[in-house]
Amino acid sequence: MARKVAVIGAGVSGLISLKCCVEEGLEPTCFERTEDIGGLWRFKEHVEDGRASIYHSVITNTSKEMSCFSDFPMPEDFPNFLHNSKLLEYFRIFAKKFDLLKYIQFQTTVLSVKKLPDFPSSGQWEVVTQSHGQERREVFDAVMVCSGHHIIPNIPLDSFPGIEKFKGQYFHSRQYKHPVGFEGKRILVIGIGNSAADIAAELSKKAAQVFISTRHGSWVMSRISEDGYPWDMVFHTRFSSMLRNVLPRTVVKWMTEQQLNQWFNHENYGLEPQNKYLMKEPILNDDLPSRILYGAIKVKPRIKALTETAAIFEDDTVEEDIDVIVFATGYTFSFPFLEDSLVSVENNMVSLYKFMFPPQLEKPTLACIGLIQPLGSIFPTVELQARWVTRVFKGLCSLPSKNTMMADIINRNEKRTDLFGKSQSQILQTNYVDYLDELALEIGAKPDIASLLFKDPKLAVKLYFGPCNSYQYRLVGPGKWEGARNAIFTQKQRILKPLKTRALKHSSRFPSPFLLKVLGLFTLIVAFFFHFQWF
Ligand SMILES: Cc1cc2nc3c(=O)[nH]c(=O)nc-3n(C[C@H](O)[C@H](O)[C@H](O)COP(=O)(O)OP(=O)(O)OC[C@H]3O[C@@H](n4cnc5c(N)ncnc54)[C@H](O)[C@@H]3O)c2cc1C
Ligand SMILES: *[C@@H]1O[C@H](CO)[C@@H](O)[C@H](O)[C@H]1NC(C)=O
Repeated sequence: MARKVAVIGAGVSGLISLKCCVEEGLEPTCFERTEDIGGLWRFKEHVEDGRASIYHSVITNTSKEMSCFSDFPMPEDFPNFLHNSKLLEYFRIFAKKFDLLKYIQFQTTVLSVKKLPDFPSSGQWEVVTQSHGQERREVFDAVMVCSGHHIIPNIPLDSFPGIEKFKGQYFHSRQYKHPVGFEGKRILVIGIGNSAADIAAELSKKAAQVFISTRHGSWVMSRISEDGYPWDMVFHTRFSSMLRNVLPRTVVKWMTEQQLNQWFNHENYGLEPQNKYLMKEPILNDDLPSRILYGAIKVKPRIKALTETAAIFEDDTVEEDIDVIVFATGYTFSFPFLEDSLVSVENNMVSLYKFMFPPQLEKPTLACIGLIQPLGSIFPTVELQARWVTRVFKGLCSLPSKNTMMADIINRNEKRTDLFGKSQSQILQTNYVDYLDELALEIGAKPDIASLLFKDPKLAVKLYFGPCNSYQYRLVGPGKWEGARNAIFTQKQRILKPLKTRALKHSSRFPSPFLLKVLGLFTLIVAFFFHFQWF
């Protein structure tokens, strides 16, 4: 049984791993390269080597009720989508509340993690760290890799012939901090992920003209869904997840397309995905369509070549006098401190069991946390990962045989490419609710809705038709939290609280006895076939 655990990185994944270790009675030590917690979410004016870098205006794309840890709801008055500084504040309160800082060694970089010679029997690792020029070796029973995957910029310069001639300024989105200095410029943003759309929309308010060049296009969603509720509260319910799984794919895709085109027609705006039948991650951006409608942003196809001052596109159109090119072309990842073979990407596939365990290890004493891109919030996802991993370390949960794990990796990857496509940017993509339930099942924290239907029907209905939030995974099993049921029932209150800044005297309420609710539910189910999104 493992006792001493090394946690690499004190971002979100590292913090939640620490909490889970402590709760399981393990002895964690966290090594963090920088002087503070928060990882990606700690904004700095200057880019730092080896750490993710965000622009000043980053706002979460997952809502607060869907992004909080399962036994620690965000403060009532926090807005529903958080500025990065506010999210960092949440992580600070969280770290303080669970007294996590004392386990972290700051300004300490992990240089290498190697198996001890007797690894097949001991499962132990030698971890070499460096702090203020001093190297240290220490033996650990287990390792949690929480070092993030938005650090190494991916700029495929080969795909942009002529870039070496280009006289203007060009940089990766990682370098972008503010719209200052871009006034009156003609700017070309390459890519169509969340960062590309954010940066293009922000710059388009100052620039003379912004262009977005995209090969594949993308669906765009608003953070605001039906009745003004956050999109993910509506999208991520067990019921809709079940429907997406059981209905024929063509039906689901058709409905999704109808729904996504309701806000604006993606074809008219030049954004329609090339392969619209893929569930490739939509981007969340409320400004992009309006900026396109104003003409401040123009959507262009793939770039064929660049000259000293111009961009030539696939359709042979040319845009002259480009001053700035922003490569919002995403990231690649690597773990320089691990042996190459441990976490490898081959044939567009990550060799990890459930995105966590290298299957070839004799002992399951090393896991990656947060090396995943769920369709929903990453925070509840990494929490369940950490809860499971720590129980595996303790020997309370076990992994199947190497062959079974390999088969699962391949099988999962086939499903993934079928759903999300083969693009390099999608290799970590996974369904949200399904993945959470899968992990919860491993630790015995998945609520049994069928049996709840008799014991606590109100709760059962909420669990099935309501938003699939993290509190659901604290109702039963190890780590059960007494406040979980209440947190589920008071969620709406916390969503509305920050909006109630102008008290209205006469708020009339529609009476809703049980029968009406049943009727309402029926209508909703019918409405699904026309709308897809509902509460
Ligand atoms: C612009 C942007 C917006 C996003 N918005 C959302 C969102 O709204 N909702 C959502 O769910 N997800 C979002 N994400 C996904 C994001 O990956 C997660 O939110 C989360 O921050 C990942 O946390 P992490 O702890 O895994 O990694 P990081 O936050 O990158 O933390 C890794 C830590 O490890 C440290 N480290 C690295 N290497 C070493 C080493 N060798 N030794 C010691 N320490 C090391 C780093 O210094 C860092 O502190 C967003 C990502 C980006 C890029
Ligand atoms: C939110 O944005 C980040 C950064 O682009 C991305 O990695 C993540 O997948 C997005 N989340 C959702 C649910 O779209």
